[in-house]
Amino acid sequence: MRAIDNQFEYWDSVSSSKTFTHPVDIDRFHSVVSPQANILDFGCGYGRTCEELYRFGFQNIVGVDSSQMMIERGHKEYPHLNLQTLESNNIPYDSNIFDAIILFAVLTCIPTD
Ligand SMILES: C[S@@+](CC[C@H](N)C(=O)[O-])C[C@H]1O[C@@H](n2cnc3c(N)ncnc32)[C@H](O)[C@@H]1O
Repeated sequence: MRAIDNQFEYWDSVSSSKTFTHPVDIDRFHSVVSPQANILDFGCGYGRTCEELYRFGFQNIVGVDSSQMMIERGHKEYPHLNLQTLESNNIPYDSNIFDAIILFAVLTCIPTD
């Protein structure tokens, strides 16, 4: 595996030091997604976007990330959130259960197919 493809180790190694700040346009999101919607935040990091949505009133949010350390941090900072480590590249949910799926600053971290 090339170093650039070794994302898992990298994100684990920075899980306690990174602060993600890319602004979330919650009003815009809210204009197209209802607060009762089932939302998947794919590549949620430590869950800060899930937390913003939760604080805004969204009720059904699942965050998943391939970095176990990011998810562990999320469990500490936001114990009320449903954050889970992805065990493989397959999303462990049926294809039709989410109304909205967010990938926030994730595809920019996946350099190859
Ligand atoms: C820049 S961070 C963004 C975190 C979060 N979306 C946010 O904006 O706060 C990118 C995240 O994508 C995750 N990630 C990278 N490749 C992934 C993959 N193949 N599957 C799931 N998550 C991945 C990383 O572990 C990292 O937490």
